[in-house]
Amino acid sequence: MALRKFVAGNWKMHGLSADLVEIEAIAAASSNFPGVDVALCVPAILIERASRAVPGFRIGGQDIHQAKEGAHTGSISARMLRDAGATLTIVGHSERREGHNETNAQVRAKAETAIDCGLDVILCIGEILEVREQGAAVSTVLAQLDGSLPDRTNAGSELSIAYEPVWAIGTGKVPTAGEILEMHSSIRARLVERYGATGELIRILYGGSVKPSNALEIFGVSDVDGALVGGASLKASDFIPIIAAAADSQG
Ligand code: PGA
Repeated sequence: MALRKFVAGNWKMHGLSADLVEIEAIAAASSNFPGVDVALCVPAILIERASRAVPGFRIGGQDIHQAKEGAHTGSISARMLRDAGATLTIVGHSERREGHNETNAQVRAKAETAIDCGLDVILCIGEILEVREQGAAVSTVLAQLDGSLPDRTNAGSELSIAYEPVWAIGTGKVPTAGEILEMHSSIRARLVERYGATGELIRILYGGSVKPSNALEIFGVSDVDGALVGGASLKASDFIPIIAAAADSQG
């Protein structure tokens, strides 16, 4: 089933007040593509200003704490993100899993908390290069998915999965269309096993070195329902052509 495409930017630890103009430019141009859902996941400290600058455009966070509140110095809760104007959050990005030792169980708890608090979730999974070279990419990613998925979803539309091979993030390397197809169709099958018909409605995004030059080919792969875009989401001049490619791929 062809789902409406979803293109989300992940600004990571980039972005200062001066970059709000890029968010404004992205929001303005994305309104020319009403068939595509677009969001920008910006540093937490920019969320409130970004939300005020572009009312109606979807602004998200990049992580939350799994607890709803409490003694967790330096952490940010789902309700805080909502309060600041976010409508979604990334959880389980490989930079959190690797750099902050996040486990599948924590990622799952974060996804459940986010959904409970009314935030949509982009849940990231993906293999490292050695695993792909050993031929174990699909089994490894499915095990990560099993461990990280929230217990339940509501409509399916509040949850997206981002398949992001770690070796493709920020490297300019991208899996072949066949490798993406194999992984996305395996993830789809597992989502349907897990959630029944709702699993057909969960969007599966591809992430890792998505650029204007490769976006159309990637969006053409079956079961690629959008993209999570890092470096190429920082500038409207790079991000808008990716949104346009998503629109084109829907015909
Ligand atoms: P990239 O990052 O597009 O810069 O490769 C993607 C991501 O980490 O979400």
